[in-house]
Amino acid sequence: MSANTNIESVQREDRVFEPPPEFAAKAHIKSMAELEALRAEATSDPEGFWARLAESELHWFKKWDTVLKWEPPHAEWFVGGKTNISYNCLDRHLGTWRRNKAALIWEGEPGDTRTLTYQQMHTEVCRFANVLKRIGVEKGDRVALYLPLIPELAIAMLACARIGATHSVVFGGFSSTALVDRINDAQCKVVVTADGGWRRGNEVKLKPAVDEALKETPSVKSCIVVQRTKSKIHMESGRDHWWHELIETVDANCAAEELDSEQPLFILYTSGTTGKPKGILHTTGGYLLQAHLTTKWIFDIKDEDIYWCTADIGWVTGHSYVVYGPLSNGATALMYEGAPNWPEPDRFWDIIERHRVNILYTAPTAIRAFIKWGEQWPLKHDLSSLRLLGTVGEPINPEAWMWYHRIIGRERCPIVDTWWQTETGAIMITPLPGATPTKPGSATKPFPGIEADVMTRDGKPVGANEGGYLVIKKPWPAMLRTIYGDDERYREQYWSQIDGVYFAGDGARKDRDGYFWIMGRIDDVINVAGHRLGTAEIESALVSHEAVAEAAIVAKPDDLKGSAIVAFVTLEGGRVPTDELKEELRKHVTKEIGALARPDEIRFADALPKTRSGKIMRRLLREIATSGSVAGDVTTLEDFSVLEKLRTEEE
Ligand code: WTA
Repeated sequence: MSANTNIESVQREDRVFEPPPEFAAKAHIKSMAELEALRAEATSDPEGFWARLAESELHWFKKWDTVLKWEPPHAEWFVGGKTNISYNCLDRHLGTWRRNKAALIWEGEPGDTRTLTYQQMHTEVCRFANVLKRIGVEKGDRVALYLPLIPELAIAMLACARIGATHSVVFGGFSSTALVDRINDAQCKVVVTADGGWRRGNEVKLKPAVDEALKETPSVKSCIVVQRTKSKIHMESGRDHWWHELIETVDANCAAEELDSEQPLFILYTSGTTGKPKGILHTTGGYLLQAHLTTKWIFDIKDEDIYWCTADIGWVTGHSYVVYGPLSNGATALMYEGAPNWPEPDRFWDIIERHRVNILYTAPTAIRAFIKWGEQWPLKHDLSSLRLLGTVGEPINPEAWMWYHRIIGRERCPIVDTWWQTETGAIMITPLPGATPTKPGSATKPFPGIEADVMTRDGKPVGANEGGYLVIKKPWPAMLRTIYGDDERYREQYWSQIDGVYFAGDGARKDRDGYFWIMGRIDDVINVAGHRLGTAEIESALVSHEAVAEAAIVAKPDDLKGSAIVAFVTLEGGRVPTDELKEELRKHVTKEIGALARPDEIRFADALPKTRSGKIMRRLLREIATSGSVAGDVTTLEDFSVLEKLRTEEE
């Protein structure tokens, strides 16, 4: 997209759904008037607003001296304050009746279950924190967590938070090569993993991938292994230890460290426009406040609720809305290890019926899969326990929204469509379910205290219904603090694109009511099944194969996944394009990054279309992948015959 062109927006949607009165009557935020009052308070005195809530909602060992230190683009929140997230999520509930309340209800894919009360969670976390200390983990050290969706993942995160170590969760679907990059970037001292996990009836082995990775990660001194599948694995003596053996050797008490509000809590890698993933760094006090408050107000969590966020903890949604937000609120969170269609396409509805789940938070890509599998699956089940639905991860198309509303919510449950990012740490644009009238496909308006807008590339506000770039105009408590080890890239990517504001990288428009409609990524990042993937990262994986000379990745619309990945590949001289080679390249990407990045389609080309300055014109490739021809402007194209050939190959 060139510098000043605006983004075309064509979607129009007129349906409006008011919050059901019986829902609103019991909600934390009960009306538009109440919500507007909060917004007004936050607008007139943002620091006072956040400080009031930090004081009433969280535990502090020592109160802060300064609410916000803002030296653009660096923010520090609650400076001088001392707190601990593990204490806020566990210890503070132990002195109340919640001590015996379920913190986590977990279900494994094979059907095994575990329930951990707050007291039990506390014991497990203390033990594992003592294990970390015993193997030499100190405050500030980085610990990589490469695990299936099992309680030990949440326990390990809280144990790190307890002693001030920084966790870096690496999604279990990533390959060992991706793990190597992430471990080395953060210089992790310890890796916590498992023998494997279950997915669609198969074991997904993790330890062999770790063994492979640890050959190239000199910083790692120890590896702790959870026994989940009991398959046979290699244990390297002196380096590898069993989780269940280590926790027997330590005490069940471990005091939570009094940490600075700005103590680093976690690094989470996400895709950017270059091949190298960005280590998004989040810290303690501000992150916890916003994760806590958004969970409370947006999911309207009550003590008697069972709340289920279906995200894997390997993504930011799992960090903020499976672990930290719910536990800080003393809620009961459900966690399910496996696939939604195992053993049948009604596993989610079966879980909701059996556990009487009240709040469901999932992704549009899952909803589209459910639509495809057929409404007979949810209709077989009693879903009357549900009272609130949520979505996140990508724009939800109005038809999927309506299906979710009718078939899952049975026209009774409000839907919260929540916009945010790994970088924002917590939800930013969202309805509050007892207050905000919703429109299918719109994330509605910013959360109180968040100042979002839509601008042109040169920083001018756009008019109603005009497309533009989504920006945030003021620092917020859960914002990323930097890109780990690359502050220059942090400045450049987020704070230098448009002067003085945070640049989200999404296109958006606001309608006449001020509702935000997110139009998706505008950079070279694609969103496949709710997972952000950098095109450059997949391209460099392809080029690392000896047969490939050059590669360009584009997304094309896909009914199910939102986007499908199409790879245009030119081969080294002498290599013959064959179907076997296509398959080999798909496998190669799986090995380099993971199955989530595997191209859906590979097209061989003699050459790729380039500008005179040598940039690949992905826009043209996108058009070819989507419609088979090019209608857009080609005046900057260097060699027209390339396009001709690509089109002929298409036929
Ligand atoms: C997209 C996930 C439209 C968006 C929490 C954003 C959305 C990227 C929505 C962040 C939504 C997330 N409507 N688009 N409700 N939520 N997105 O870092 O493009 O994995 O920039 O964080 O997902 O993805 P990430």
